Amino acid sequence: MNCGLLPARPNRRLRNLAVSGSSFGSRIAWFLSLTAFGGFGLPGQSEEPGRPEAKPSHVGRPLPDYVTGDECLFCHRQDIGPGWRVNEHQTTLRPIESDENVAAGLRRHPELGRLARHVDFILGDRSRIRLLKRSERYGRLEMLSALLRPGNDPGALLVDNETPFIWDREVFGRQCAGCHATATDSRTQEFAATGIDCYACHGVVDLRHANDSSLVHLAKKRRDSPELIAATCGQCHVRTGKSRTSGLSYANNHVVGDDLFADFAVDLSPAALQAQPPRERHILANLRDIRDRKTTTTCLTCHNVHRGDAKKHRRAPSSEFCLICHQTGEGSPLTYDRRVKRHPLCGY
Ligand code: HEC
Ligand code: HEC
Ligand code: HEC
Ligand code: HEC
Ligand code: HEC
Ligand code: HEC
Repeated sequence: MNCGLLPARPNRRLRNLAVSGSSFGSRIAWFLSLTAFGGFGLPGQSEEPGRPEAKPSHVGRPLPDYVTGDECLFCHRQDIGPGWRVNEHQTTLRPIESDENVAAGLRRHPELGRLARHVDFILGDRSRIRLLKRSERYGRLEMLSALLRPGNDPGALLVDNETPFIWDREVFGRQCAGCHATATDSRTQEFAATGIDCYACHGVVDLRHANDSSLVHLAKKRRDSPELIAATCGQCHVRTGKSRTSGLSYANNHVVGDDLFADFAVDLSPAALQAQPPRERHILANLRDIRDRKTTTTCLTCHNVHRGDAKKHRRAPSSEFCLICHQTGEGSPLTYDRRVKRHPLCGY
């Protein structure tokens, strides 16, 4: 079988991130997970006095090696390959060569044209676009200060902010990489791949899953817990959280299966939810319901990630949750506006 051509062991990440003093970091994380308030683990802990069960965490530790998407698609090119090329997770941060539309718009732009040849990557598409180039430093990108939005004509680009054009070396790593790239190490702010690879959701995949699919996270046979799903999607889709250890607004070295909320603090109070538009609120409300109300409704009850739609949400059990987007109930007129995608965290 041609599957025998695959490397016998997972690829090493581009560079091994040996962290000095990492055991100290993980002790801090452990301590914080015991003292943290508002964390996911808390209600369970108060019901079970004594030492809470130690949950795995990569806070302060190097990220593991993982099998890259190219290798997964070697076997999954029929079922996953076609949809993956256009999946927004894969394309969120993409090489400029892959987007002829934006590339052409950039070349003929009166002010940005002269910078076009420096641009290596594009971030975003539907509402706002950022331009990035490779840094001299490993695993990092520099981001241009200009915030662009698509104009009415195909390929037309409009500049949305009034700043001089400056390449910033720090901002992408410090503020964005954890959610728009794969396997970002919070300490160095270096990432392993642009865009979001399989690893971000399926975790470290054991290739023996080809014979027993329950070995891989999110497989049908595996029946992952609502908490695991909440953490997997929440690591990026909570845009109002903060890592207690790194202080950054993205999760600190989260690996699928880790206890995200021991380190990633999120305010799920009624006031915090009310302050968000329905787009963000339904995500936070789902996390709260999983934590406090032990609901089994998860992101995956409603979303199909590989098809990129939420069609099956119509069959989800009806509850007050539906009122976050519908006026009076199931399928009634919407208060949800698809266009409101902006968030201060994403810089627009
Ligand atoms: C905590 C994770 C997180 C961080 C940090 C983050 N983003 Fe985002 N970003 C998201 C998510 C999730 C979406 C998609 C939201 C949706 O579709 O509802 C998004 C959407 C976007 C979009 C819109 C893309 C489009 O198709 O229109 C842009 C542009 C963007 N982010 C830029 C940035 C920039 C620039 C930074 C850093 C300054 C950043 N983001 C930091 C999670 C994050
Ligand atoms: C953003 C999260 C995410 C990423 C990234 C992701 N997946 Fe998935 N995948 C899921 C979820 C969630 C499911 C469970 C089915 C569902 O509800 O969509 C799934 C299901 C699958 C399945 C089972 C078949 C199916 O369609 O249900 C395969 C195979 C798979 N993924 C492979 C991959 C491969 C290969 C990659 C990378 C090229 C990848 N996935 C990237 C979230 C993701
Ligand atoms: C050697 C070939 C091979 C490679 C490489 C491979 N897979 Fe699989 N995978 C399979 C086979 C075979 C199955 C079981 C058949 C099935 O159920 O679709 C499977 C099943 C799965 C499932 C569960 C499908 C379901 O229906 O629930 C997921 C999820 C998955 N693979 C993800 C991945 C990801 C992510 C990678 C890369 C990290 C990967 N696979 C790499 C062969 C492979
Ligand atoms: C590593 C970060 C990351 C993870 C993990 C992640 N997402 Fe996303 N997701 C994003 C970003 C970034 C975007 C926006 C892409 C853009 O517009 O450029 C996005 C877009 C989406 C969208 C809108 C686009 C579409 O394809 O419909 C949905 C829905 C979504 N994600 C659901 C999920 C679910 C469900 C999970 C968990 C299984 C998940 N995501 C896990 C970062 C992530
Ligand atoms: C009860 C169903 C339901 C649950 C649970 C749910 N969502 Fe949604 N979500 C929806 C619907 C419906 C939409 C609107 C989809 C559309 O515009 O077609 C949506 C929209 C989104 C979007 C914007 C999609 C886009 O294409 O612009 C993202 C991102 C998202 N949800 C992520 C999540 C995440 C992450 C979770 C879990 C924490 C979650 N959702 C839980 C039903 C749900
Ligand atoms: C995140 C926002 C969001 C949430 C939460 C949400 N919906 Fe929706 N709903 C939408 C959007 C957007 C549409 C229109 C697009 C579509 O049909 O998917 C829709 C359409 C529908 C439709 C089809 C209506 C028609 O006229 O064809 C039904 C039925 C429905 N929703 C039921 C529900 C139920 C039941 C719940 C609660 C379990 C729910 N929705 C929660 C956003 C949402």
